[in-house]
Amino acid sequence: KILIVDFGSQVTQLIARRVREEGVYCEIVPFTKAEAAFREQKPKGVILSGGPESVTVEASPRAPQLVFDSGVPVFGICYGQQTMAAQLGGAVEGGHHAEFGRAEVEILADCPLFKGVWHKGEKYPVWMSHGDRVTKLPDGFTTVAISRNAPFAAVADEARRYYAVQFHPEVAHTPHGALLIRNFVRDVAGCSGDWTMGAYREEAIAKIREQVGSEKVICGLSGGVDSAVAAVLIHEAIGDQLTCVFVDHGLLRLGEAEQVVALFRDHYNIPLVHVEASGMFLAALEGVSDPEVKRKTIGRLFIDVFEAESKKIGGAKFLAQGTLYPDVIESVSFTGGPSVTIKSHHNVGGLPERMNMKLVEPLRELFKDEVRVLGKELGLPEGFVGRHPFPGPGLAIRCPGTITGEKLEALRKADAIYLDEIRQAGLYDTIWQAFAVILPVKTVGVMGDGRTYDHVCALRAVTSVDGMTADFYPFDMAFLGRVATRIINEVKGINRVTYDITSKPPGTIEWE
Ligand code: XMP
Repeated sequence: KILIVDFGSQVTQLIARRVREEGVYCEIVPFTKAEAAFREQKPKGVILSGGPESVTVEASPRAPQLVFDSGVPVFGICYGQQTMAAQLGGAVEGGHHAEFGRAEVEILADCPLFKGVWHKGEKYPVWMSHGDRVTKLPDGFTTVAISRNAPFAAVADEARRYYAVQFHPEVAHTPHGALLIRNFVRDVAGCSGDWTMGAYREEAIAKIREQVGSEKVICGLSGGVDSAVAAVLIHEAIGDQLTCVFVDHGLLRLGEAEQVVALFRDHYNIPLVHVEASGMFLAALEGVSDPEVKRKTIGRLFIDVFEAESKKIGGAKFLAQGTLYPDVIESVSFTGGPSVTIKSHHNVGGLPERMNMKLVEPLRELFKDEVRVLGKELGLPEGFVGRHPFPGPGLAIRCPGTITGEKLEALRKADAIYLDEIRQAGLYDTIWQAFAVILPVKTVGVMGDGRTYDHVCALRAVTSVDGMTADFYPFDMAFLGRVATRIINEVKGINRVTYDITSKPPGTIEWE
């Protein structure tokens, strides 16, 4: 296993991704907790991440001295390189020409890090992002690559198996960067690369059995991938000690509620309570048009209904949740203050405390795409695990203004037509998320010989890696024309279609 010490870089998670893609398990810890984690986990190698601080500032973060004293191989990236240099007796200076974005490194010497990837005497593109730079190497180190503004773009102390680079090998903008990370974890640190989803599944099952014993577990299904994968995994571990509760708020996409019930009850034979609560949700949302009020209303009611159902089932000590790794990585925050709430996300936050239950979270160590792989491993249908993300408050936040049963019905149909056309065009997996929005605006149209006065439907499709930033998808006009014609012809209540060409930022992906 590999330990990644986080100094607060925006891209630390990508290091973890690259390591795991090599079949090697790794964890990220903030530098403040690195020493304890190192003692406990006994990793075969350590990677020091980048970070926003300057090592020239007193009291800036450092790697635990223990890491250097223990004899394990260390790979420093950007800030990680600088703190390594500073801690081992070299020097770092600020105020030089900063390098951001594309740069080129020239390879001066062979190095285990470059094996089979970069060759002596050649130049390769890399991605840099730094203000400070190393100006004097610690004893034992040699320079193995240079760039125009970083005389020590890559350095190595082969005797001690220390490697450090000024650029970022973990980002896609450094074309062969993933292979350098592979060389470090596989060749230098000697990790075997046998961490697979099959192995994870077995381990997770054993852990669940140990944690739960003979107690009962309740799991809320949302219709999404994460809760479904968690439920199937837990059922495999403890069988019918698990009961699933599906609070159907009537805000899912067309046919999804039925699919969840069929999949769990009929296919997996997992005990499932299906609470048909759409009437309650619609009543609670009546007249509500403020996006935050909508979100809070849905969140609150969801918890009430879920809690009441759990009480009826009775006797469960554990609550299962599909929490993922990005939600639990403790981030290193230098700004301290809370960030602004753009949207309050509704999942089941607050439930466990309120119900006084212990949590079972078998996906806590996984990234989203790893959950998809695990889902496939557990036999969930491809079409289900590959689904686009869907927000907790569902269609309510794709219906700006007040929500009515009629609008929801039109929206559901329009959305299904749009997704159907996207699938037929073979674009579903290229697009991160696509959906229809029904606007509160009505406009005039003409159909046959008659006047129409109906709602406008907006279509949205974005590409993204993590939902944090996104670009609108550049459909060709013929495709959009086809979708618009079908929606207007087939969906009662919609007579005009527009396409949303806003990226994020400044837009958000959802409209509310
Ligand atoms: P925004 O609209 O903030 O969305 O750009 C980013 C991603 O998050 C999803 N989203 C949610 N997911 N509960 C969720 O589980 C929510 O309340 C929620 N709101 C937005 C959104 O669909 C997109 O993928």
